[in-house]
Amino acid sequence: MTIWHERWSANQIGFHRAVPNDLLTKHWAAIGAAPDAHVLVPLCGKSLDMHWLVEQGHSVTGVELVETAVQAFFQEMNVKPTIETNGGIARYAFAKNAILQGDLFAIRPSMDPYEAWYDRAALVALPSSMRPDYVGQIHSLCAAGAVGLMITFAYPQDQMQGPPFSLPDDEVQRLFGSRFDVELLDKIDLEDEKQRGLSSLTSSVYKLTRQ
Ligand SMILES: C[S@@+](CC[C@H](N)C(=O)[O-])C[C@H]1O[C@@H](n2cnc3c(N)ncnc32)[C@H](O)[C@@H]1O
Repeated sequence: MTIWHERWSANQIGFHRAVPNDLLTKHWAAIGAAPDAHVLVPLCGKSLDMHWLVEQGHSVTGVELVETAVQAFFQEMNVKPTIETNGGIARYAFAKNAILQGDLFAIRPSMDPYEAWYDRAALVALPSSMRPDYVGQIHSLCAAGAVGLMITFAYPQDQMQGPPFSLPDDEVQRLFGSRFDVELLDKIDLEDEKQRGLSSLTSSVYKLTRQ
């Protein structure tokens, strides 16, 4: 049982939001994904952002480790997804929504790579030691020229235990710089969140282009 299974079974999912993320709705158009692009959403939880992306015309495939989260996503849509299992990964699908239930790091590239991806609370959910492998997975699952929107948090790591773990802008450059074009679209100061006792907390929004 991972920390994520424990969190989902105890309903400790403070990361889940009841409305689509405002940085997604503000910046998605700026990354220039084709309207019919197939979008990958790694570490998707039961995020409503996936519905918003479908509303923009995309097919969306999330990847989520915890079965409870995947079931909740489709239950909350009031639909019964088809479920197909292949190589230990269960693919739940309904209309333009699909979720691969399993470990992101166990997903193998397909003949049909993703043309876009969206990362909110995904890379920041992983400790630094796992981040290079995450970036490698995004690179191998996405096509050359694929575009991604990534939302990060940065704060003094010694002031709070993750997840979310701090992901400062220089680490984004180090992780992605050699295989992706990296463009900072926005950076905001999260004043309200400082109630957590943090001396600073910022959120950066990136456009990433896979080379
Ligand atoms: C912080 S939550 C963010 C969920 C979603 N992106 C959102 O914005 O609500 C991270 C999610 O990643 C899932 N997760 C963690 N490690 C994973 C892995 N190796 N493969 C797939 N999913 C994973 C967890 O179960 C959890 O639902």
